[in-house]
Amino acid sequence: MKNNRLIIISYRLPFSFKTENRTTSVKPSAGGLVTAVKSLDLSGSSQKPVWIGCADFTQRAWEKNRPLVDNDDFEYVPVFLDRKTNQDFYNGFANSVLWPLFHYFPSYVDYRDEYLRAYQAANQAVCAVVSEVVQPSDIVWVHDYHFLALPQLIRERHPNATIGFFLHIPFPSYELLRLLPVKCRTYLLTGLLGADLVGFHTTDYTIHFLQSVQLALGMQHKMWKVSYQERLVQSNAYPIGINYALFNEAYGDNEVIKERVELKSAYKDQKIIFSVDRLDYTKGVMQRLDALDAFLQEYPEWRGRIVFILVVVPSRDEIQRYWERKQMIEQAVGRINGKYGTLTWLPIMYQYAYLAFPQLIALYTACDVALITPIRDGMNLVAKEFIATRKDQQGVLVLSEMTGAANELGEALLIDPLDEFEVAEQLKLALEMAPEEQTRRMAIMQQRLSSYDVEKWANSFMNDLLQTQEILKKSHPQ
Ligand code: F6P
Repeated sequence: MKNNRLIIISYRLPFSFKTENRTTSVKPSAGGLVTAVKSLDLSGSSQKPVWIGCADFTQRAWEKNRPLVDNDDFEYVPVFLDRKTNQDFYNGFANSVLWPLFHYFPSYVDYRDEYLRAYQAANQAVCAVVSEVVQPSDIVWVHDYHFLALPQLIRERHPNATIGFFLHIPFPSYELLRLLPVKCRTYLLTGLLGADLVGFHTTDYTIHFLQSVQLALGMQHKMWKVSYQERLVQSNAYPIGINYALFNEAYGDNEVIKERVELKSAYKDQKIIFSVDRLDYTKGVMQRLDALDAFLQEYPEWRGRIVFILVVVPSRDEIQRYWERKQMIEQAVGRINGKYGTLTWLPIMYQYAYLAFPQLIALYTACDVALITPIRDGMNLVAKEFIATRKDQQGVLVLSEMTGAANELGEALLIDPLDEFEVAEQLKLALEMAPEEQTRRMAIMQQRLSSYDVEKWANSFMNDLLQTQEILKKSHPQ
């Protein structure tokens, strides 16, 4: 991307400001998207890339604190939405309509026209900011379900722009999408068709998108391309990876070793089962707790010999479906601990907290089993991170077949997250798996994940996007 400047657009900027004792500092945002974008190979590009996102700070705070991020690798352009628009856009349309629908929870969808209007207003506000900064040779890369309409909005103002879009969650079957009003689904699909390249985590999601375009808009696709407004829109699958080296090398960090030793000695008489998820109904934590209950019921010989360390990371807790989930989880933890616990042993250690990186790695590397059971998940990077951290090639991954990651991790023990007895049975197999078999499975998965890491992911999307630009130039020479 020698002569092209990159413009990234995502809901969150990759940092936030934190003020403590009247001193403000910059806190980098965690998450796959930030790592992914930061690992793009931008060498050769003479201009600083730009990152546009919605501000979680005021305009005044930005003016004051801007110098703190001035020397970063990116130039940041925050978009300031008014409180009500942001609420109805983020908590409303994005996370109470699109999120549940795209994760196959139609009964959780709370569709309201005012939410759609806020989504439209937010996409337009971001488009206006893009228009102020975009130059003809820029590459625009839009991320995620918050901005499905944005590619077409940008296209209308900048017909020759190079625009890529990547969806970080599943794209559902048309039968789900058609639950939205016609005006709404048409707006979302045509919005995406403003891009030159639309990327998904898996082939299934790509096919669902193409089928939806065909069934909702009557447009045929050929070789994963749709012809729209005299342009070709390419779609494809790019399964996102992780920063493999970062997770793999963390095994030997001093702080990680210290935390791991502490964990292992605290649970020296038990095997450790571990899970960590953002608070979300899609993650299947309640079903996981039911499965643990079934496990302790069916295999009483394991009582006293395991501990389940359950970490739930706070997320979206202004939305009822999220805070009520927290209460449900806490009740279930209490019920199971009360049912099986003794004066000297509790089956579940529960924490509702953010984990620092060394603690997370210590848990990944101290556990005997990682129990990852989402009901739906676009990819699930926790599963990939767990595999990457296990330099010792020990530990067993029990993984839901309903995650995008299951496509690449066939050596895990794959389970149906809704079948508590199957999960219990596979959990027993995991706890009893011979060390040689653990190594065999780990080695294959590690090989696969290290050869398609996040850097490969980002660069392969970018190369394909640049190719669409080349093809365009050849068919319309200037
Ligand atoms: O998986 C989709 C995603 O938007 C990620 O990009 C992000 O890390 C995660 O969900 C958390 O979402 P939020 O920004 O709502 O906290």
